[in-house]
Parts: sequence; structure tokens; C-alpha cells
Amino acid sequence: MTLRSELVDLFGSAFAEIGLDRSFGDVVPSQRPDLGQFQCNGAMSAAREAKRAPRDIAADVVAIVDLDPRVAGLEIAGPGFINIVVTDQSLAAATSSLAGDDRLGVTPADPLDHWILDYGGPNVAKELHVGHLRTAIIGESFKRTLRFSGARVTGDVHLGDWGVQMGQLLVEVRNEQPDLIYFDEDFEGPYPDESPVSMDDLQRLYPTSSAKMKSEPAYAAAARLATVDLQAGRPGYRALWQHFRDVSVEAIRGVYDDLDVDFDVWLGESSVHDRIGPMVERLESAGVAEPSDGAIVVHVSGDEEEHQIPPLMLVKSDGGYAYATTDLATVEERVEDLEGTGAIYFVDARQSLHFEQVFRAARKGGIAPESFALEHAPNGTVNGPDGTPLRTRDGDLPLLRDLLADIESIAIASMDAKGLASDYSAEERAQIAWLVGMAAVKFGDLSNHRTSSYVFDLERFSSFEGKTGPYLLYVAVRIASLLKKADEMGLEPGPILAPAHDAERALLLKISEFADAVERAIALRAPNHVAEYCYELSGAFNRFYEQCHILSESDASLRASWLAVAGLTRRVVVTSLDLLGISVPERM
Ligand code: ARG
Repeated sequence: MTLRSELVDLFGSAFAEIGLDRSFGDVVPSQRPDLGQFQCNGAMSAAREAKRAPRDIAADVVAIVDLDPRVAGLEIAGPGFINIVVTDQSLAAATSSLAGDDRLGVTPADPLDHWILDYGGPNVAKELHVGHLRTAIIGESFKRTLRFSGARVTGDVHLGDWGVQMGQLLVEVRNEQPDLIYFDEDFEGPYPDESPVSMDDLQRLYPTSSAKMKSEPAYAAAARLATVDLQAGRPGYRALWQHFRDVSVEAIRGVYDDLDVDFDVWLGESSVHDRIGPMVERLESAGVAEPSDGAIVVHVSGDEEEHQIPPLMLVKSDGGYAYATTDLATVEERVEDLEGTGAIYFVDARQSLHFEQVFRAARKGGIAPESFALEHAPNGTVNGPDGTPLRTRDGDLPLLRDLLADIESIAIASMDAKGLASDYSAEERAQIAWLVGMAAVKFGDLSNHRTSSYVFDLERFSSFEGKTGPYLLYVAVRIASLLKKADEMGLEPGPILAPAHDAERALLLKISEFADAVERAIALRAPNHVAEYCYELSGAFNRFYEQCHILSESDASLRASWLAVAGLTRRVVVTSLDLLGISVPERM
């Protein structure tokens, strides 16, 4: 329960008392802090329904609400806005109650919900590149945020490990090393534990093979055949494929670990293989899947629909399965095996059509019941200075490890410019620099709405000035050092008193908005609301800190109250940053 939600109840009851819907009593933080702390705009919408003048309705509501002891001032403005000021006592009481709440006022999630979050989406044989950055950062943040609200969440990396790319690699490895035991059809195992190829080998073989796929029809046919054999379970192929997967997962996991991004399950396209045959059969016999030019498709657009969506490719004319086929079977896996109540896909916006097809087919084929939510939460791209998706000079997508290679040195330069951590050991400086760099990259991403693309500018992101991750770390660390100093002086936090300064009032109000920001981020699948909030809270704290000289305050109970407010602010900043996937150093 936050102060705002208390007001929503209060105003809702007032509207109900005059015979109007409770929902008109919604209360939001004020757009004009000079006029009030909160505002209720419901009288205008209610007026249309009640066929009364909005200002009259507002006057009726004000007459009722005015009696509440938490309300200090009410004013009707313009066509019927109600500006609200609460008493300082109620502000202090609300802040204390937040301090006692593990969830800091966030409404607990429905205990029956179980969300499957699909993010990351790396592919076997390919190192993580810039195209994997946003899905990882946004998905991880959303997972943490949803979990903070108490929801059950399973993060799935959904590894791309089962397409024709796997057949390509098999063929390419056979070309290079034809004598490998994996290609001997008479061999009965067991196969060696050691992989005959490294990640570097795979990275080299894959593009070579892709080029041949386009120029050599016989090669392409061989790759498709190898894919079919692999999927049918040919032991040598399966064993070699397992090496491809293991070697890739190890490399991929290393980069995710560096990014502090993790997954509860490492399932992938291959894990639904056994579901595909029966699923296709079922869809065919139900008349949902139909033959079309030698392939089998699912029509997902109604005849009368104005914007027709092309049919989903279920079985290609060569008998192979498509990307959509594994995704459809994955929906089934998430419903049946993972027992989810919904899935959200944090995937590049350029895959929107794909997901629209998969979701529609899943409904049409009864694979996901209506009660199972299916959502694509699309993300924009990471761009270069020219505003188009970031590429290396050779035109490739930069690898994440290359992209992140200089975050530490850029962070050190930025720390030096600010005079931070200068007399710490080289080791500690490096640790701090890593966290500063991570904060820079993650906040640089999450401060944009997930659908917008942004220009990757590590120097700007790493600055301690402006709306950046390092600035927020600095605020969190500064509060920690204030609290430490107080502790050394033998000062302790105490009960939160009614605020007496504007900057203090504004800070308490901002703290109470944490829950709103988190709930908005959850509802809109958009962590940037938490990022924006954290920045606002930091500004509110700085203004408070300038006006209220905590350590030199002579009134002991006031000083203790301010220390408690500072401690709570730090907790909210650190929690917000944690929800963004950002860790705060002990000191800088
Ligand atoms: N591996 C895919 C790609 O590289 C992304 C996977 C996204 N998730 C999914 N369920 N399709 O494009």
C-alpha cells in the first residue's frame, strides 16, 4: 500500500458515494508540483457519463474527501482537476510503513501466475554479438522486476540449436576432417568425450558453410540431408552435434556471466524435437494444417481480414521443419511441461510477423488455451553513430566481447575525471571499473524504451554527469559513505518525522512512487520506467542533501529521522538498480 493507493481508495469511495464509478477516483502524481502533490482527473470523465458539469462533480468529491485527516489541502482547477496536498504527518507515516515492507509497497503478484520469459536467444556456433545485447539486458531486468513483485518466473534462453545450420556444420566438419569417427556409420560408440572442434572452429566454419549454401546446390542438399539425419537420430551426428552445443554453450555462458544475465533453464529448439511429429499430425487431422505446394502450412488470417498475414510454414517441401515449427512446439512445451500461465518473448522487433504467426497458430491449433498469455515484447536495435544498426568496419555485427572489451578502461578514465577511487589498489579499481562499465552499458540501454533504438556511445554512457548508470552508482555510494560516517560518529537512524522542508517532502513523495514505477514497468513490459524513476529519485535525494545538512544538524531526533530517510533512499536506489541488473560497488 502506497500513499497514492490510499488516495485512490479514498477518492474512489467518494465517487461511489455520489453514485459514480469508483474508477473515476484514480489519483496520480501531480503534473504541476507547484499546485499539489497529487491530482485526480476523474471528474472530467465522470461528467460525460453523469451528464453533469465536471466542476460540480469535483466540488461534491472535494466536500467528502476534505474530511479525511490525511488531506491537508484540495483545490479545484481548470475544467475540474482536483489538486491534492497531503499532511506532512501522513507523508511520514506512509514512508515509515514502506520502510517496513520487503516489497517497498509493490502490489504482490497473483500467486497462480507463472511467467515464462524468452530472452537471450543465442545460436549454437555463433558467439554473442551486438544483436543479443538488448534482449539479454531487457529480459534480465524484466525477470528481476517480475520476481520482485513475488511472481513465479522461469527465464529460458531458447537456444537456436536445431535448424539446418546444424546440418551445415556437420557437412563442413566432415569436409575438413572426413576420418572422424562420428561419420563412420558402422561405429557403435561410445564416442569420445573431447570435442573435435572448438568454438573458434565453429565460428570459422559457420560463415564458410553459409556462403556455400548459397552458391553450391549440392552442398545445400547435403546439409539439408544431414539435418534430417541428425533430427532422425543418427548416433554419430547426435554425438557430434552435442559437442557443438556444449562448446557453444560454454562460450555463450561466459559472456552472459560477465553481463550478470542468467537463465533458469537452457532449453532450446532441439528440446522440443519429439513434440513436433505428433503436433504436426494432430494439426493435420484437425484440419488446422493444410498442404500447400508440397509444404504443410497453417493459415493464420481470416478471409475478411484487411491486412493478410502469410501462412505459418509448418513443414517445408523438403520435409524439414522451420523456425516457426520449433517455436510452435515450444509453446506446447511451455504450457504442458513448464506449466506456465503465459510467455513473453523479448525478441527483436524485426521478428514481429513471426511471432504473430506462431501465436495465431497456437490459438487456432489449441496448443495454447486462451488463458495462456502469449506476448511479443519487441526491442529496437543498438545503433552506430550514423543511426543504423551497429556494424564493424568489415560490415559484421560486433561480438559482444569485443564491444565490451574497453568498458573497463573507459570507466577508469571516467572515474579519474571525477577523482574517484584514486588511492585504492589496482585490483579494487578494476573491480569498481567493471561495475561502472556494466552500469554504463545497462543503463544506456534501459533508459530507452525497449522499442526505441539507440546509439551506442560508451563514453557518454560512462560519464558520471547526466542521466547515466555511473551517476546513479555515485549517488548510491555517496549515501553509503554518509551512513558510514554517521555510524562512526555514533549517530543512529530513528523514527521518520513529519517533513519540514520542501526538498524533504519531495524526497518522501518520490520514495513513495517506487511501487508505481515498478508496477508500470511490469504492466508495460518496460524496464525504462524503473530506470527513469531511479534517476528522478537520485535527483530528489541530491536536493534534499543540499538543503538538509544531516551530520551537522543539532536537533537529535531530526537528525535521526533524516538518517533513516537517507538509509531508505539508498535501499530504494540499490533495489531499483538491482531490478535493472546493475550492481553497486561498496565504495568508489
Ligand atoms: N535464435 C533466434 C535468432 O537468433 C532468436 C530466438 C528468439 N526466441 C524465440 N522463441 N524464437 O533470431
